[in-house]
Amino acid sequence: MFNLTDYLENKRRIIDNALEMHIPTEDVRPSLLHKAMRYSVFSGGKRIRPILCMAAAEAVGGNGEDVILPAIAIEAIHTYTLIHDDLPAMDDDNLRRGRPTSHTVFGEAAAILAGDALLTLAFEWLAESRAPTPFLSYQYSLEIAEAAGSRGVIAGQIEDLSAEGAEPDEELLEYIHLHKTASLIRAAVRVGGIAGSANTGQFDALTLYGCNVGLAFQIADDILNETSSHEILGKPSGTDRKKKKMTYVSLFGTNASREKAQLLVDQALDALKDAKALTPPLEHIARFVLERPR
Ligand code: IPE
Ligand code: IPE
Ligand code: MG
Ligand code: MG
Repeated sequence: MFNLTDYLENKRRIIDNALEMHIPTEDVRPSLLHKAMRYSVFSGGKRIRPILCMAAAEAVGGNGEDVILPAIAIEAIHTYTLIHDDLPAMDDDNLRRGRPTSHTVFGEAAAILAGDALLTLAFEWLAESRAPTPFLSYQYSLEIAEAAGSRGVIAGQIEDLSAEGAEPDEELLEYIHLHKTASLIRAAVRVGGIAGSANTGQFDALTLYGCNVGLAFQIADDILNETSSHEILGKPSGTDRKKKKMTYVSLFGTNASREKAQLLVDQALDALKDAKALTPPLEHIARFVLERPR
C-alpha cells in the first residue's frame, strides 16, 4: 500500500540535503545575505514542486535523484518568489512558513537581495544540469526560465497586484492563477518528464497534469486563505478579502471553487491514466493538493 506521508517525508529529506549542500552557509561572506537566504529556504516549506519534479521523472521510468539539481533550482526560485511576494510593495505580509517574513527580520533591502541571490543561484545549478537526448541539453533552464519570467510567474504576479479591487473577471482570474502559480508547477512536472525521457504522449499528459494541478493548487490556496487560520497555515489568513484580491473564492465562493479544483484534478488524473503514466505518487499528490491543511 502506498503511503503518501512516508513518500513525501523521504523525498523532502533528499531535497533538504541537496539544498543544504548547495546553498552557501553563513560563514561565507557576506554572512547576512547567506543567513537570509537560508532563513527562508529552511523554514518548513512543503517542497511540493521539487517532489513533483522527482515523482514525474519516476512516473516515466527515470530516477528521481537524477533530477535533483533542477528540482532544488525550482524550490530556490519558488522561495525567492515568496520572499518578494511578502514585501511591503507587494502583499505586505509578516508571516511565512510559520516565521516572521524575511523583510521583517532582515530589512527590505536584504530580503530583496536574498531573493535576487536565490534566483541567480538556481540558474547556476541549472547551468550544471544537462537534459538527456532527444531533448536539448539546456532544456531544463529553458523550461524554468520561461515559467519563472515575464510570461510566467512574474506575469501572474503583476496582474495579481493590478487586479486588487478590480471588477470580477473570470478570464483575468484564470490568467493570474495559471501564471503566478501553475506555470512553475507545470515546469516542475515537465522537467521531471524530460529527465525520465518521457515519450510525446507521456510528456503531453504530464504537462496537462502540471497545469491542472497547479491551477487547483492556487484555488486551494484561495480557499485556505478564506477558511483557515494563520496558526495552521504558517502565513496570514483572511488577507485576500482584506486586500480585495481577485480569487476563486471572491468570484465563485468556497463550494464552487472546491468543485472546480476537484474537476481539474480529475482531468489531470484521466490524462495520465490514458498515457499510462499514472503512478500512486502522482495520483496521491494531486489529491493532497485539495485536501492539504496548509
Ligand atoms: C505558496 O506555495 C504560494 C503559492 C503559490 C500558493 P506553497 O503552498 O507551496 O508554499 P510552501 O513552499 O509550502 O511554503
Ligand atoms: C503567491 O501567490 C504566488 C507567488 C508567490 C508566485 P499568493 O500571494 O496568493 O500566495 P500566498 O498566499 O502569499 O502564499
Ligand atoms: Mg501574492
Ligand atoms: Mg501573498
